[in-house]
Amino acid sequence: MNNDFTFAIIKPNAVKNKKTGPILAMINDAGFRICAMKMILLTKQQAQAFYRVHSGRPFYDGLIEFMTSGPVVAMILSRENALEEFRRLIGETDPSKAESGTIRKIFASSVQMNAIHGSDSQENAIKEAAFFFSEFERFYPVEE
Ligand code: RTP
Ligand code: MG
Repeated sequence: MNNDFTFAIIKPNAVKNKKTGPILAMINDAGFRICAMKMILLTKQQAQAFYRVHSGRPFYDGLIEFMTSGPVVAMILSRENALEEFRRLIGETDPSKAESGTIRKIFASSVQMNAIHGSDSQENAIKEAAFFFSEFERFYPVEE
């Protein structure tokens, strides 16, 4: 049984640039199953809560402004080894350091506008998924 999941957000620059479809295709091709998905415009308060861990960092205010600048697409994604495999698929935070073929290498326009978020631990994936989705908005990974 495959119970591994991660949480992802297609960020405002990618949604604005009409890259939601191409990014979803890459996610599907990499073997992820979409367990929940919605497009929303985050409030400042929601973005601050989501990125609370970075509050006080020099890039924090700009990050909040960016993440509230347009709609995002939030998702819960499952596959074997989901956390690690998804971070591999998205590439390094700084797109200039990201490997070729990764989502950030292809779709990021800067370190800040790096197209996509992926949880960095299972603990955070659980918290982030619960922050965005209620129980009846998500479908648990099914046995393949
Ligand atoms: P994320 O949380 O969005 O998946 O990104 P990450 O783990 O790869 O990077 P993290 O260190 O958690 O940073 C969160 C987001 O903040 C923006 N950032 N800007 N201008 C800067 O130096 C800078 N550093 C980080 C990026 O949007 C990054 O994804
Ligand atoms: Mg992070």
